[in-house]
Amino acid sequence: MPRHFRKVTDLSIPALHELFDLTREVKRHPDRFGRALEGRTLAMIFEKPSLRTRVTFQTGIFQMGGQGIYLGPADIQLGKRESLFDIAANLSRWVDAIMIRTFGHHLIDGMAEHSDVPVINGLSDKFHPCQALADFFTLQEHTGKLAGKTLAWVGDGNNVLHSLALCGAMLGMHIRYATPSTHVPDEAVMNEARAIAKEMGGSIHGCFEPAEAVAGAHAVYTDVWASMGQESEADERKQIFAEFQVNAALMQKALPDAFFMHCLPAHRGEEVTDEVVDAGYSIVFDQAENRLHAQKALMLTLMRR
Ligand code: CP
Ligand code: NVA
Repeated sequence: MPRHFRKVTDLSIPALHELFDLTREVKRHPDRFGRALEGRTLAMIFEKPSLRTRVTFQTGIFQMGGQGIYLGPADIQLGKRESLFDIAANLSRWVDAIMIRTFGHHLIDGMAEHSDVPVINGLSDKFHPCQALADFFTLQEHTGKLAGKTLAWVGDGNNVLHSLALCGAMLGMHIRYATPSTHVPDEAVMNEARAIAKEMGGSIHGCFEPAEAVAGAHAVYTDVWASMGQESEADERKQIFAEFQVNAALMQKALPDAFFMHCLPAHRGEEVTDEVVDAGYSIVFDQAENRLHAQKALMLTLMRR
């Protein structure tokens, strides 16, 4: 088992499947884990806003007998009030794991390097690995075996796409993404995903046409056009991404029983229409629910004595 969870590939492929098995058990029998993390503490550092990540980590550890401590942007002021090294050294003396949501991914790696306790990435500008765990667990609940299935991404080449591509590749899936040519994903991450997919019998295909990406897809996934930290670009991005909206007409180009997925929060009327996000084929709230179960399994994996 890994010491940290900075990106999906910190897990081996067998460990990823074990984590899904544990997620299933935790979801089915939460009572069996009521004291599994008794007396354990998770520090939760948030340099960006959050609904899902904050509530699911804090509720998750509470349900297993431990506690989460929320540290907001005004509290520790990463690197301003105190160095990353000193924060990691202090927290390591008190708590049993550190979850961190921040901007630069190097801060997650730095925290992991200087910390004696497990570090969990709760979203960086580059990755959102906890999201990918919940998402593929959810898709598996709805479609069964994931290997050979196709997930289409429409929108920005961002942190969520990076984590979905790596995780989907590890699961032997086909990931097809359409982004504007100006907002493609990180090439090194996609090459890593491509190499893993090749080994696992899946594939990674990038293009610039939403219709091309969604053709034959079992699920269509999108995310906001301007991520946290990019608010000043929001107006410009609305123009650039105008053709990348997931609406009913685009969903019709996927497989007839395709699911719609979104990490949330959704900007309704921008990257997705109400009719899609509220449709029977939308599984966005199942994804949100499973953040809780998947992260409980992750905390058990990293924090259980
Ligand atoms: N999907 C997600 O991470 O949501 P929050 O930003 O609300 O935590
Ligand atoms: N790409 C989005 C995901 C939010 C959960 C962001 O980083 O803001």
